[in-house]
Amino acid sequence: MPELAYLNGDIRPIKETYVPIEDRGYQFGDAVYEFIASYNGKLFCLKEHLDRLQKSMEGLSFPKLDKEFIESAVHDLFKKAGMQRAGIYIQISRGVAPRDHAWEKDIKLQIIMTIKKVNELDPEIRKKGIDIITVQDERWSNCDIKTVQILFNSMAKQKAKDQGAFDAIFVSKDGIVREGTSSNFFLVKDGNIITHPLTKNILPGITRMVIMDLARNIGIKIQEKFISKTELFSAQEAFLTGTITEILGIKTIDGVPLGKGKPGEITQKLYRALREKAE
Ligand code: PDD
Repeated sequence: MPELAYLNGDIRPIKETYVPIEDRGYQFGDAVYEFIASYNGKLFCLKEHLDRLQKSMEGLSFPKLDKEFIESAVHDLFKKAGMQRAGIYIQISRGVAPRDHAWEKDIKLQIIMTIKKVNELDPEIRKKGIDIITVQDERWSNCDIKTVQILFNSMAKQKAKDQGAFDAIFVSKDGIVREGTSSNFFLVKDGNIITHPLTKNILPGITRMVIMDLARNIGIKIQEKFISKTELFSAQEAFLTGTITEILGIKTIDGVPLGKGKPGEITQKLYRALREKAE
């Protein structure tokens, strides 16, 4: 089935779809986004993603967009593409207008989506765990809003790759571990899981929320509290969570092995529980 794009109601092959050069998303990063995955022809946590999309739009003072409208547009695209394991990218920009930092009140939202097959992560990587590096967080102070301004995330991910690592996690100036470049971060200590509380410094991840529910159901205690960089190295396990990442165990941080140097039992248990729920 073809990879398709949606542009303000029009659905065509991605290669035939163009966005005007004066889209404010393109010129100012004035846009929000979501990334949703499907398993076996079923969209996972669609409602939760669309709720967050709405919150991001409110965060940038975008006009209100009817939730049923965007939901039916997503279903329409998903049905047309007929993919079982798809990734849908949604981007809503404030609109298209002659370049000016401020905007006119009557500017119209521009809605784009793409649908592509999900490239599953190599199972070997999942089995062995990943190496990550820490990077000082120099992003803006509204990381709870899912805007397309993710250049710093992209640079940190590239830095990790250039150093032979898989990903990076952001650490604040005062040594608090926040999240990954496109994922949330968890530690396992004394059988409990610990993650950063929901503040403006991290994205309220949908997978984070699902994992916390799954953990509660299997009797694992959760603590939402600040983790210092020095605490990292006394953890038994650590993992990243995200829509594509799912749950990915960490084996080293800045070259230092963690726990047994491979994804631990709790990480694996939660991964199996997530797949079961999603499939
Ligand atoms: N990113 N933190 C950041 C900075 C993210 O970009 C993401 C997701 C997450 C995890 O959120 P969720 O569990 O809702 O996917 C946390 C998406 C996948 C992306 O940028 O493509």
